[in-house]
Amino acid sequence: MPDNWEDDYRRSLADPEQFWTAAAGGIDWHGAWNTVLDTSESPVGRWFTGATLNTCHNAVDRHVVAGRGEQPALIYDSAMTGTTRILDFAGLQNEVARFAGALARFGVSRGDRVIIYMPMVPEAAIAMLACARLGAVHSVVFGGFAARELATRIDDAQPKLILAASCGLEPGRVVEYKPLLDEAIALASHQPDACIILQREQHPASMGPRDHDWQSEASTAEPADCVPVAATDPLYILYTSGTTGQPKGIVRDNGGHAVALHWSMQAIYGVDVGDVFWAASDVGWVVGHSYIVYGPLLRGCATVMFEGKPVGTPDAGTFWRVIAEHGVKAMFTAPTAFRAIRREDSAGALLKDYDLAHFDTLFLAGERCDPETLQWAREQLQVPVIDHWWQTETGWAIAANPVGLGRFEIRPGSAGKPMPGWDVRFLDDGGQPVSDGETGAIACRLPLPPGALPTLWNAPERFRQSYLERFPGYYQTGDAGYCDTDGYVYVMSRTDDVINVAGHRLSTGAIEEVLAAHPDVAECAVTGIRDGVKGQVPLGFLCLKADSRRPHADVSAEAVDLVRERIGPVAAFKQALVVKRLPKTRSGKVLRGTMRRMADGEPYTTPATIDDPAILDEIAAALATINLPAGIMRPG
Ligand code: COA
Ligand code: AMP
Repeated sequence: MPDNWEDDYRRSLADPEQFWTAAAGGIDWHGAWNTVLDTSESPVGRWFTGATLNTCHNAVDRHVVAGRGEQPALIYDSAMTGTTRILDFAGLQNEVARFAGALARFGVSRGDRVIIYMPMVPEAAIAMLACARLGAVHSVVFGGFAARELATRIDDAQPKLILAASCGLEPGRVVEYKPLLDEAIALASHQPDACIILQREQHPASMGPRDHDWQSEASTAEPADCVPVAATDPLYILYTSGTTGQPKGIVRDNGGHAVALHWSMQAIYGVDVGDVFWAASDVGWVVGHSYIVYGPLLRGCATVMFEGKPVGTPDAGTFWRVIAEHGVKAMFTAPTAFRAIRREDSAGALLKDYDLAHFDTLFLAGERCDPETLQWAREQLQVPVIDHWWQTETGWAIAANPVGLGRFEIRPGSAGKPMPGWDVRFLDDGGQPVSDGETGAIACRLPLPPGALPTLWNAPERFRQSYLERFPGYYQTGDAGYCDTDGYVYVMSRTDDVINVAGHRLSTGAIEEVLAAHPDVAECAVTGIRDGVKGQVPLGFLCLKADSRRPHADVSAEAVDLVRERIGPVAAFKQALVVKRLPKTRSGKVLRGTMRRMADGEPYTTPATIDDPAILDEIAAALATINLPAGIMRPG
């Protein structure tokens, strides 16, 4: 195995322009760039300025031109419906070009925004690629978000069109998307020109005057060609949780993104043209954008699009079936999926039914991976299990253990070493480097490599404040951790109000905003507490208004319903505890960290700054009354 990591890493930092120019050779360009890395307007940097390309051409058409039209491109496997559909590159090109033609008929063109609110069906990927083909900017909204969250994104992105399916399929229930979409449009100030609805037979939607049928639009459209766009033009906006209820619109450009993702498939994941890659995530998350749709297709791999869950649809052997049936070489998912499988089949009995001889590597990311889960997966699968770390903002891995560049020893608990382009530092509150082994805020020296966010949609000032202000000259990741003496990175926690629930990123601040809207709630706090499967789940603390006469159990239940209604089921908000008071410092700051440690059964000390230590006894008494999350044993 080649051992290029050290050399590549050094070169990428010493001469980023040369390093990424070489990687850019993997992409078809329409027009050449003037500048490889332009830092004149932003310290983050803009890549390949002046160049033109089309991302859809690179992900689809060029593979057909190269004679690989009959090679599988998109393998749709739905455990929810028991169906499989394979589109080869020629078939995918045909579907994408025709759907792009349909979008163009509605007047969609370069720079227009299109929101996609869809479950894991091939049409979701086709829609993304069709937007890219026209130079339109897609914004995919995860199906587990409620109407109000969708409305916030509609108002921010101001889409010309919204594309949706009539329904999604969750175990035991059909999620009707269309009423959620209608409610979101009613809540939003911005109104799209039209909606195109994919009717699924499990629950066709009733159509209104604004709605158009997907199949009839696609079948009557003329195929549209790829439109060359600037490398720096936005390809998509993907909203992610920040500290408040207003999500951040992460912008991804076309050129740098295509270069970095194409490069990462071989360098990091060790897959190449014709290999089968599977990211078990959802198109609504960054993993879905980067490694269900764009990365594998840019490289000419076949990508698996899986609709279902790792357990219960029908059983905990589903992942093994998909790997075996479709010849998956490398897979990527969140540790939570493996914790769920392990809980159902800890002996790995279901594995024995499947031949996984062609399976090479399992990649995990999206949340901290506990060493036990990593170890268990390794023992079961008998392949390297690689934890790697990245964010919606970065688009691809900041730290990993790169299969294509030459893997190093795996250290469970660590997310590997920094990848080329990422100059990772660990800083104290004053911005000074901490020593190896000491925990600090993780920051990356600017400029950032291609593929990383250039800005936030409609919010350049928020971009600066959120990421660039705290440590001048660095990108602040919002994560904290340490580095060992061999350069391995350990990502331990967030430095902000973001929590990670089943690999999904949520804002406790956003949940608090919803709870505060309950008429009986005077103040509230939300913290993420440990969960044996989901990693973390949110727990709410509610203080009721002095004049509230409502039974506490009723207010708690209403608070749970309110979060589900306003944010969506993805928040997994199941418990709200009514307490008399919240523990605070003398300056009024709520001691969320102390409450989290108490809920997790971890040792804690009473903070010296607390205004009334007796409140902690009240919190402890309240915590003793709730259900423990899965797998957590609390002392006493
Ligand atoms: N549309 C509508 N509802 C959705 C949804 C969607 N696209 N996705 C999830 N939901 C709902 C679920 O049905 C569930 O609702 P419930 O409260 O009625 O049960 C809720 O949102 C929480 O979903 P989820 O977090 O997926 O929890 P789960 O208990 O259904 O499944 C896991 C837990 C671990 C099996 C699942 O999260 C998983 O497979 N995760 C690994 C892969 C992954 O998603 N990674 C993300 C980034 S890599
Ligand atoms: P998202 O933007 O949804 O991909 O979430 C990114 C966040 O998830 C990161 O900032 C981390 O807090 C967390 N995360 C992702 N991968 C890892 C990992 N391998 N180890 C620890 N935390 C991770």
